Amino acid sequence: MRDPDQLRTLYESILEPSFPPSELESLGSLTSRMLDGKVTIYAVESEEGRLAVAVTEPLSPSSAVLLSYFATRADQRGRGVGSDLYRNVLSSVREPGRPSMVLAEVERPDRHPGDGEHGDLTARLRFYGRHGARVLDLPYFQPAIADGGERVYGMLLLALWFHPAGLSADGARLTEAGGIGPAVDSILGGESTVAKDDAAAVALRESARVGGGVRLLAVEDYAQVAVARGPEAGAR
Ligand SMILES: CC(C)(COP(=O)(O)OP(=O)(O)OC[C@H]1O[C@@H](n2cnc3c(N)ncnc32)[C@H](O)[C@@H]1OP(=O)(O)O)[C@@H](O)C(=O)NCCC(=O)NCCS
Repeated sequence: MRDPDQLRTLYESILEPSFPPSELESLGSLTSRMLDGKVTIYAVESEEGRLAVAVTEPLSPSSAVLLSYFATRADQRGRGVGSDLYRNVLSSVREPGRPSMVLAEVERPDRHPGDGEHGDLTARLRFYGRHGARVLDLPYFQPAIADGGERVYGMLLLALWFHPAGLSADGARLTEAGGIGPAVDSILGGESTVAKDDAAAVALRESARVGGGVRLLAVEDYAQVAVARGPEAGAR
């Protein structure tokens, strides 16, 4: 989808009601990135209107892809619309350049309230788990999505799909060859610099390059993953 007016409708009817403001980039930014070809927008429509949306972006210069946003309109959830879109998006992003992996950022259910308005966080994890996603053992936070914006701590980074060549022999880790280190660097690259005293960013970068590879956990075991905390030490 490349039409700004259609994107506005999707944004107002699905994205805005599904994500807290700290996790959703502005309509202006998303529109210009769509027109520049930096994000790809997928939408499901029926006679009932626009039902679901997914947004993906390559994490250049790494060869990973991020599923930046994915939501079904609140009155349509639980009817299979999201599963259909998810399968289509994954097969579509995997085709062109065979990325090393497809990632998604989600809130930890034990660190975020998960109000009904933005969806049920445990149900969302269950959704991804059912479709084969694993949790990466990384103290993850979402970098600020705009200049002057705030990081979101207490997040998880999910591997929705990864190239089998990146797996350790026992299948329990994503190895350096799997490209997780450069993928995390690309995500952090959105912040102008990572200072040495930026403990959360340093810990995240180091964890992504741990010898032997990053552990992959079942989504229901996410509580084993260390929590990324902000400088003021409050778990947010
Ligand atoms: C997660 C989501 C995209 C799934 O789409 P969907 O069309 O509801 O999915 P399906 O009908 O194919 O699958 C149903 C599953 O979705 C999940 N789900 C359903 N309603 C949900 C809700 N309100 N919030 C979160 N997940 C939900 C559950 O895992 C459900 O399975 P269950 O039978 O175990 O409860 C959709 O529920 C949603 O938009 N949630 C809120 C926004 C969100 O969490 N987006 C992902 C952010 S990265």
